[in-house]
Amino acid sequence: MSVAEKSIAGAEARGHGFLASSIGRKVIMAITGVILFGFVTVHMLGNTQAYMGSEAFNEYAKFLKTMIHGDGIWVFRTVLLVAVGFHVWSATSLTLDNLAARPEGYRAQQNVASTWASRTMRWTGVILAIFIVYHLLHLTTGTVHPNFDHTNPYANFVNGFKVPATSAFYIVAQLCLGLHMWHGVWSCTQTLGLAHPRYDHLRRGFAYGLTILVVGVNITFPIAVLTGFIH
Ligand code: HEM
Repeated sequence: MSVAEKSIAGAEARGHGFLASSIGRKVIMAITGVILFGFVTVHMLGNTQAYMGSEAFNEYAKFLKTMIHGDGIWVFRTVLLVAVGFHVWSATSLTLDNLAARPEGYRAQQNVASTWASRTMRWTGVILAIFIVYHLLHLTTGTVHPNFDHTNPYANFVNGFKVPATSAFYIVAQLCLGLHMWHGVWSCTQTLGLAHPRYDHLRRGFAYGLTILVVGVNITFPIAVLTGFIH
């Protein structure tokens, strides 16, 4: 079967309709991307409570678990899980389509009009998925935490980042988040129809600004613990 025939056969196997079309899956990736970037921004703002001390941070953690009679966190978790599921599915399926359309790869790859961040989206996405699993086992369930205390999220935060290898992994993961976010925010605003030569400088500024803010503040947490500023 020729490359073109394989590609047509793949498209036919998926069927017709919004989710089968590549633009449909790009829109799904963009919408779920907006939900996830929104989450990391709010999550970063919430974690700044660590700079207010143990009482403020533990109060905040308690609020998350008790809001809307304890149902609020499950609403958040469900939305996040569904968003992550659709995001990974659309990214994987678009990647497989691209590979099927050009199985031999480019002989001399010319990365015209693409940035390093855009070319590394798949890898930074995979590293982020690994980070999220580790992060949940570390600070939510405590499975991989050296001395987890279910009643004291602040102590878990501080004791968790006191381990240099853990802090180093968090910092590397945040740098991957930065690359992923920068290109992701830029390209999802394009998919959602916000690209216009007159306003592109605003889109670029927004992508840079949000990424630098989220990643910059997130990186301060492990550094603040390692330097004893948060203790
Ligand atoms: C240095 C940066 C970060 C810090 C200090 C941090 C801190 C925390 C803490 C303390 C918790 C547990 C809250 C509790 O159980 O009381 C948590 C949960 C969580 N974090 Fe992070 N986080 C960081 C980055 C991220 C990033 C980049 C993501 C996503 C890409 C993320 C996703 C989550 C999720 C999904 C939960 C579970 C929320 C739930 O309980 O359902 N975090 N984080």
